[in-house]
Amino acid sequence: MRIRRCAVLLLEPREEVGFDLEHLLAGGNGLSRECRWLALAPHLGAEIEVDAAERELLGAVSPSEWIDARELGPDTATALKRLLKEGLLIGSGKRHAAHRERDERLRTTYWHPLAGVLHAFTRWNGADAVANMRDSGTETALQMRDVLGAPPVEAADRSGAAQRLPLPRSVPTAFDELMARRTTCRNFDTARLLPHALFAQLLDRVFAAKAQVRVSDDTVFLKKTSPSGGGLHPVEAYLAVQHVEGVAPGLYHYHAAEHALEPMPSPDGPLREFVMQAVAQQHWFADAHVLVLLSPRFDRTNWKYRHHAKAYRVVALEAGHLSQTLYLSATEAGLGAFITGAINEVEVERAFGLDHISQGALAMCGFGWRGEVMETTELDPANEVWIAADG
Ligand SMILES: Cc1cc2nc3c(=O)[nH]c(=O)nc-3n(C[C@H](O)[C@H](O)[C@H](O)COP(=O)(O)O)c2cc1C
Repeated sequence: MRIRRCAVLLLEPREEVGFDLEHLLAGGNGLSRECRWLALAPHLGAEIEVDAAERELLGAVSPSEWIDARELGPDTATALKRLLKEGLLIGSGKRHAAHRERDERLRTTYWHPLAGVLHAFTRWNGADAVANMRDSGTETALQMRDVLGAPPVEAADRSGAAQRLPLPRSVPTAFDELMARRTTCRNFDTARLLPHALFAQLLDRVFAAKAQVRVSDDTVFLKKTSPSGGGLHPVEAYLAVQHVEGVAPGLYHYHAAEHALEPMPSPDGPLREFVMQAVAQQHWFADAHVLVLLSPRFDRTNWKYRHHAKAYRVVALEAGHLSQTLYLSATEAGLGAFITGAINEVEVERAFGLDHISQGALAMCGFGWRGEVMETTELDPANEVWIAADG
């Protein structure tokens, strides 16, 4: 059989600190320290502990040149067998087809190695962001101050007041008023259906292609209302629709060129349960009429920016632009919007049939009618949304 190493691999010597009673009783600080070597290979998406012999072998096998496994010698047999089983070494045999296919997909998606590792190993599975805040005593701003100490100053000061050159304020227009009302919505009115036309309007304004540039039969660039690195517009919108007139609750893909919904299979359990998992139990977002997964097609961006140090950053920045366009479009329509990066990517990928290699999950946003009562805090210090709405 022929073998080679997987395309991308980082080895991390990770220290784990535990409690050691014996150490404490013997007069020590009661802490035990253990170092484990972890192999981080993005095509696998799970950390794999490796021993000294396995590390040595990983360093000896090329990721680009296939060799005959017999060339390695009998003393590597145990390490070779385990590394092949785990998928850190890739084998040409039938038995290794699944790992080989994932490794191949990673190679042809042209990730920058560090970005590939970052993306694969910062995904959550079953995380509960609300419980984490509760357990760490950081649910409110005041609690955060107590637990974490004071944050760095709110606005950087580089010259001192005397050297500053004051600037005139902008003359308020309708655009300023719109922006002043943009406030992350954490209180949705689940009882009030979102009209179909408003739903379609937001998707059209934020995610639809407004024009196309056809370079050749198979190469088309889209124009949208947000900017995009290289004009590639890799970020797809996948929807969890909950309370919209004329749209059955469920999962959809939004077709940007056709401005149309593509129904997707239902999640395994109830939609509400999936949505709660998706936003890591942040119930204030799970109530939204529509949740939108921002899902980059890394293969499209990396087609141009091959192994590029900035490609992943560019995609993340683009997601931010889309979110701001959504916030402003929602505000203009009298709706609330949100974005969260605290998502359980693994569950979301499963439900929408994505993987983290060629097309992943980056953030979730959403929109809908704001409720009448602020049960979860929103940042509205100038009373642009809440008092204005009451009045
Ligand atoms: C990338 C990003 C991620 C965010 N993630 C969360 C989140 O997980 N949970 C949440 O309640 N708000 C989240 N927010 C909203 C911020 O908390 C909010 O923007 C901030 O408090 C300022 O309030 P404003 O948007 O109303 O001005 C996120 C905002 C951004 C831009």
